Amino acid sequence: MLIRTHQDGFIHPLSSEITKPEAYATRRQLLRQWSAGAAAAGLAGWTQREAFAQGSASGLQKLAALPASQSNVQGAMTVEKLTSLRDATTYNNFYEFGVDKSDPARNAHTLKTSPWSIEVEGLVKKPTRFNLEDIIKWGAMQERIYRMRCVEGWSMVIPWVGYSMSDLIKRVEPLPNAKYVEFITQVDPQTMPGVKGGYIDWPYTEGLRMDEAMHPLTLLTFGMYGEVLPKQNGAPVRLVVPWKYGFKSGKSLVKIRFVEKQPLISWAKAAPQEYGFYSNVNPSVDHPRWSQATERRIGEGGLLDKKRKTLMFNGYEAQVASLYAGMDLAKNF
Ligand code: MTE
Repeated sequence: MLIRTHQDGFIHPLSSEITKPEAYATRRQLLRQWSAGAAAAGLAGWTQREAFAQGSASGLQKLAALPASQSNVQGAMTVEKLTSLRDATTYNNFYEFGVDKSDPARNAHTLKTSPWSIEVEGLVKKPTRFNLEDIIKWGAMQERIYRMRCVEGWSMVIPWVGYSMSDLIKRVEPLPNAKYVEFITQVDPQTMPGVKGGYIDWPYTEGLRMDEAMHPLTLLTFGMYGEVLPKQNGAPVRLVVPWKYGFKSGKSLVKIRFVEKQPLISWAKAAPQEYGFYSNVNPSVDHPRWSQATERRIGEGGLLDKKRKTLMFNGYEAQVASLYAGMDLAKNF
């Protein structure tokens, strides 16, 4: 996404940058483990995590477990093979820690995640700063297995842990004229070497229309693979919106602002002709510089293998298409 051109030193990611396939548990292995009693662990992702530990994925840091129940939200549990924990934690976009895919895993250890609070401001009954310890209790932790599609043309399948953003929104009581929600993420030049670079007007900000933010699939996310979020994946709390390109899923949230007018998001500010407010995954609307019709699943197949076809709304059409009824999605990209 960071839009590298040969002139400014940035290039679109090459397929050779994509991590090679490695050991990961298949769905079948997972089911076998479940039936063998591992279900007591209570989490598909947790079981999968154990499978990685037994396999070749050595050197992965073990984080605190984050228990959750499997989600009963429609569309929330894709049965596709999970991306390996190693790929999901070493092939990241988190520009505050550098622009290469391997930079966040290397540099994000400096992120200070405790104490952490989120300020809720704008058009709400009582604007307040809340401690993370309180926010965590506002919803029941669920595991959701989501397909994630990056605007750069690759995808992953990740078991996230969190609760629907709607639980937080209802709790803070937005006013009737709140039509959009803005998500503002952490910016700290002391701990985030990437914010000295000028490609983004920091802090990284994202936004959703209120009905998108209230959709049950929109996840306020505290963990992945049965554990708390690794720093490179947006600890301690991030957004995950599975039917939109990955950049909508802001990491390390510090502020949620309710507003009346459509907010200007960071990427649309940086390159308005390339990134729109909606950013719904849409195989029929190309990025101005590349097609969005296909994608490469990280960790799957060789570089010469055929790519997968990208699905409308990233495969969540049944759940979310009604939000956009009657809209011109080429214009509202
Ligand atoms: N959030 C912040 N604060 N900074 C970022 O650079 N990158 C986005 C998104 N959230 C980004 C961010 C992009 S482009 C993607 S594809 C996803 O995070 C990647 O999430 P992952 O590393 O967990 O796969």
